Amino acid sequence: MQQIILSLEAKGGPLVVKEAPIPTPGPNEVLIRVEAAALSPGDWKIYALGILVYSYPTILGFDVAGVVTEVGSEVKGYATGDRVMCESYYDVATGESRGAFQQYIAVPSVYVAKMPENLTFEEAATIPSSLGTAALPLYNDAEGASSAKLLAPWEEGGQGKYKGKAALILGGASSIGQYVIQLARLSGFSTIVATASLGNADLLKSLGATHVLDRKLPSEKLVHDAWDVAGGPFDLVYDAVANEETLAAGYRATACKGDFVYVLQNPIPGADESSKKRLHFAHGLYTVPVNQAASQRMLAKLPGLLERGDIKPNRPEVIPGGLNGVLAGLERLGRNQVSAVKLVVRPQETDA
Ligand SMILES: NC(=O)c1ccc[n+]([C@@H]2O[C@H](COP(=O)([O-])OP(=O)(O)OC[C@H]3O[C@@H](n4cnc5c(N)ncnc54)[C@H](OP(=O)(O)O)[C@@H]3O)[C@@H](O)[C@H]2O)c1
Repeated sequence: MQQIILSLEAKGGPLVVKEAPIPTPGPNEVLIRVEAAALSPGDWKIYALGILVYSYPTILGFDVAGVVTEVGSEVKGYATGDRVMCESYYDVATGESRGAFQQYIAVPSVYVAKMPENLTFEEAATIPSSLGTAALPLYNDAEGASSAKLLAPWEEGGQGKYKGKAALILGGASSIGQYVIQLARLSGFSTIVATASLGNADLLKSLGATHVLDRKLPSEKLVHDAWDVAGGPFDLVYDAVANEETLAAGYRATACKGDFVYVLQNPIPGADESSKKRLHFAHGLYTVPVNQAASQRMLAKLPGLLERGDIKPNRPEVIPGGLNGVLAGLERLGRNQVSAVKLVVRPQETDA
């Protein structure tokens, strides 16, 4: 049986819509008909800069929502017809990758979560990799994990545990930032300051930010205004932008024994090796060995969190044309023309 995929044929392109066989799920995998696939800045970077991927052709796309159409012989808890979401699959050991920009994807069932009734496929597709990148560096308790090792709000005693603490989220309107704000709220942080374009302030406050500061403030003023709000340096700073300016501001704003999480491995201006600030590079892939157990615990709780509205998806913006629309969306991401929404395509609407 054939499907349509979007193939990145070689480093730097081209991206080609073409036919390919529908994958057969392994014994521990489910086959998902992809109803919605989300676009990420990482897809743009792989395509335009030729980074992160070492084997071509490949299929981009980190996030999937769809319907289970086949269940491997060893899989428990899933049946055909289930509405599910998942991060696309990357096997660290073999380098094998299975991206979201295709009509069917086979993934291990342990990295899948069921979608509650109150979510559309487009909303669900905004969640997996951004929520993972938000949550894992905060809550992953595995030995060797790059994480603040807070107690997750879905673990016993975790909800509201950090009452009285203050968090700063740089890039609060980004896909990841919106999930970090909500996690900080669930964790009980009393002060949650986010930076964004001020047009996004109401959205961020609806997610749990107690204060929103203009992202255009000069770095030094931003840090001082944030400290004024929080009454001093922050217990937790999450930098979802991680450019030279935000890294410098985020590091500076972090309290002496506080946690500073950042999403890109750029040098941190002003970082002092003798400092007791704890630095954590975010790593959002569920399949990385050190992330597997924490990811699976979170995925088990995710349907309930979404059903209760404890976590709300990003607002999706659907790009027309199915997989043919991906390139235009990636170019918008490359031009930084995406604000507080997640771009999504519907692969089933692709004309070959
Ligand atoms: N380490 C990992 O495992 C991992 C995983 C996934 C992604 N990432 C990286 O994480 C970054 C964020 O990804 P994403 O998908 O969340 O991005 P995104 O949603 O595309 O980010 C767009 C948002 O960034 C905000 N922004 C841009 N520059 C800003 C600044 N200087 N200050 C404050 N806000 C700013 C904008 O806010 P306004 O609209 O309010 O202006 C915009 O809404 C990307 O660089 C991505 O490659 C890393």
